[in-house]
Amino acid sequence: MTPCPWIVRTKLLKLAVPLALIIASAAVADDSPWRDPPGMAPIIDEFLGRMTFEEKVGQLGLYTSDWSVTGPTVRAGYKEDIRAGRVGAIFNAYTAEFTRELQRLSVENTRLGIPLMFGYDVVHGFRSIFPIPLGEAASWDLAAIERSARVAATEASAEGIHWTFAPMVDIARDPRWGRIAEGAGEDVYLGSLIAAARVRGFQGEDLGAVDTVLATAKHYAAYGAALAGRDYSTTDMSDRVLRSTYLPPFKAAVDAGVATVMTSFNELNGVPATGNRYLIADILRGEWGFDGFVVTDYTSINEMVPHGYARDLAHAAELAIDAGVDMDLQGGLFTEHLAALVKDERVTEAQVESAARRILEMKYRLGLFEDPYRYSDPARQAAEIYKPEYLEATRDMARRSMVLLKNAEATLPLSPNPGTIALIGPLADSKSDLIGSWSAAGDRDEKPVTVRAALEERLGDRGRLLYARGAGYAFEDAGDRSGFEAALEAARAADVVIAVMGERADMSGEAASRTTLDLPGAQAALLEQLVATGKPVVLVLMNGRPLALEWADANVAAILEAWYPGTMGGPAVVDVLFGDYNPSGRLPVTFPRTVGQVQIYYDMKNTGRPLTPDKVNEKYLSRYLDAPNTPLYAFGFGLSYTRFEYSDISLDATEIGPGDTLTASVTVTNTGDRAGEEVVQFYFRDLVGSVTRPVKQLKGFEKIRLAKGESRTVRFSLNADDLAFYRADMSYGAEPGEFELFIGSSSDDVRAARFSLKGETTMSEF
Ligand code: NOJ
Repeated sequence: MTPCPWIVRTKLLKLAVPLALIIASAAVADDSPWRDPPGMAPIIDEFLGRMTFEEKVGQLGLYTSDWSVTGPTVRAGYKEDIRAGRVGAIFNAYTAEFTRELQRLSVENTRLGIPLMFGYDVVHGFRSIFPIPLGEAASWDLAAIERSARVAATEASAEGIHWTFAPMVDIARDPRWGRIAEGAGEDVYLGSLIAAARVRGFQGEDLGAVDTVLATAKHYAAYGAALAGRDYSTTDMSDRVLRSTYLPPFKAAVDAGVATVMTSFNELNGVPATGNRYLIADILRGEWGFDGFVVTDYTSINEMVPHGYARDLAHAAELAIDAGVDMDLQGGLFTEHLAALVKDERVTEAQVESAARRILEMKYRLGLFEDPYRYSDPARQAAEIYKPEYLEATRDMARRSMVLLKNAEATLPLSPNPGTIALIGPLADSKSDLIGSWSAAGDRDEKPVTVRAALEERLGDRGRLLYARGAGYAFEDAGDRSGFEAALEAARAADVVIAVMGERADMSGEAASRTTLDLPGAQAALLEQLVATGKPVVLVLMNGRPLALEWADANVAAILEAWYPGTMGGPAVVDVLFGDYNPSGRLPVTFPRTVGQVQIYYDMKNTGRPLTPDKVNEKYLSRYLDAPNTPLYAFGFGLSYTRFEYSDISLDATEIGPGDTLTASVTVTNTGDRAGEEVVQFYFRDLVGSVTRPVKQLKGFEKIRLAKGESRTVRFSLNADDLAFYRADMSYGAEPGEFELFIGSSSDDVRAARFSLKGETTMSEF
C-alpha cells in the first residue's frame, strides 16, 4: 500500500518537514477569507487519487457522539464508524480531551488518517452564553453581534470545535414557531446584515487561524414559513416571496463567505428542501456560486420518505445527492446506500467525489491536514473558557438587547435607594432558564447569575429584597395558586414589585411551537393579583418569541423585554432596571395584540381596502371585527429613559435618475435628562409597481449615542438599486415612479417625504 502524503508526514518524521512546509505555505489564503488557498487543489487531488470509493463516501457522513442529543435518533456505534473510516465529521463532541481522543481514532486507525471535523450548535455562545439570537438582533448593533460570534468561536475552537451550525438566518414572521428565537426576526434587510455579521464573527478573517470556526447558514430554505407556525410543517410560497423575503439572508451569508449551508426539514412548494435541486443546485451553487459544502439537517434525507417524496431510503439518498447535498447529518443513508446507487448507475462516482472534495477542502482550510489536533489544545481550553472579559461581553450584549416596552410615569429607572423590592416570578431565580435554548456547552447550574442574585448584590444595604417564586410557568401549572399568597404578601410589603415572568427555556427553540402567546402556567393570573395590590409592577420578560401582552401593557407600570439574556443575564437586567445602562434595544419582530393577528409584520401589503384612521367605522375593509389591525408593539419599537425628537426630513433632491444618489437627513435631539442611544430607522415605499409593493421596507439604520441635550444630523443615501425588486417578469430592478421615504424611531413612528425615480434599472441579482 502506498502511503498518502498525510501518512508520510505524520508517521515518517524524516519527511515531515518538507511536506509541512508545502502545506503551511499553501495555507495562506488569497484575498478572500477561505476561497482556493494556493496549493490546496494538488493536495486534495492527491488525497482523492488515493482514496477508495468507500473512503470518499466516509467523508460524507456526519454523526453525533453520545454526549448530547439534539435530534430524534442516535446512530449507535459512532466510535466504530470512526475507526472504520465511515465518518467525515462528528458533532456534539467537545473538550480538548474528548475531541483529541476521537481524532486519534480516525488519524491512527484509518488507512489514510484523514482528520475528522467536529461540529456543534454554537448558536449564542459556547460556554459564556450570550442572549438568544432574537435578543441580540434587538440590539441593532452589528459590531456587538459580530463580537458575540467571535467570542463564541474563540471559546468553542479552544475545545476542539471546528464548525458551528450557526447562524440560523431564517426569516420568521410567526411567533407560534419556537425557532423564531434562533434567528434575527422578521426583516429581510436587518436579517441579512446580521447574517453577514455573524458569519464574519465565527469565521474571522482567516479560516486557517486556530480561533475561527466554519459557519453554517441554516436552514435552507423557507423553514421559518412553516404553516401555522408548527415546526417542520409545510411551506408553500411564490418564487417572488421566496426570493424577496426568505433567500436574501442566505445570499448575504454566502457573500460573507459562509463555509457551509444546512438544508431545512420542510418541503417547499411540494419538494423537500433536502432533495430540492432548484434551491441547492440551481440557486445556491448556480446563481450564487457557493463553493462550500451543503449538509443536511438531522436525518432530513430520511424524512423525504414520510414527506411522500422518496419511495424508500435509497431513493432518498439518491434525491439528496442529486440535489447537491454533500454531507448527511445523522441519517446514515449515504453510508448505507451510495455504493449500491453507484453500482446501479443511479448516482455517479463523480458526484460522490465532488462532495468529498468540498469537505476535504474545508478540512484543509482549517489547517487540519497540517495538524489534526490543533483545535484540541488543553492549555488553550484552560485559558479561554469563561474568561472574565467574555462574561463581561455577554453582560454588555444582554444590556444592549433589552427592549423597554412600557414605562409609565418614569417608573424606571429605579431609585438607587428603592426601599423594599418584591421580586416575584418563576424566572427571577432560575439559572437554567437564563441561557435559553441551544446554549451549547454553557453551564446551566452554577455559572448563570440570576436577577435575584444580581439584585441582592446591587442592593446591599440600600434596600430590602423580598423574593417569592409565586407561580409556575409550565402549562400544567395553570390552575396552581399555591404560591400566590407568599408573593402577594411580599408585594403588599414592598414599594415596587418586579415580576420576572415569561416562558420556560425549552418552550422556544426546536420543536417548541405554541398555539397561544400568553404567559404560560399561572403567571398571568398572578400578575393580575400583583397589580391589584396597587403597588407599581415592573414586568421583566424572559421569552423566545413575541408574547401577547395586551393586558400587561394596559395594567402594569413598566415592561422590559429581556429575552433569554444569557449567563450574565441577571446583572444585565439589574443594570437596566437601575439605569446604569439606558435601554437601547428595538424590536426586530412585531408583537401582536393577540395570536389571532398572526401573521402580522410591518412590511405588509396595503390591500385594495386598507383600514385608514378616517374609516374606523366602516365595515367592508381589510380588518378584524374584534381587534385593531395594528400590533401592540411595532417592528423597530423600543423606549429609552431619555427622549429623542426628530426634525422634518430634508432631501437633497426630489427626483433621481438611475445613476443618482439621494440623501435624506434628519436632526435627532436628545431632549431628555440623560445620555442615551437611539436607533434611527430609514424606510421607503414604492407607491406603484408592476407588482404591488409593501407599505414600508427598511433600507437603513444608524444607532447613535447622544448626550443630554445633544443633536446630531443623520444622513441616509439611496440610489435606484436600493429600490430594486422582483418585477412582474421576475427581472430584478427598480421601476420609475413615485416613492415615499420615512425616517423615525420605529416602523410606526416616522416622518415622511416624497421623491421620484425617472428611468428604470436592471440588476442581475439582489
Ligand atoms: C436539528 C436542528 O434543526 C439544527 O438546527 C441543528 O443544527 C441540528 N439538529 C444538529 O443539532
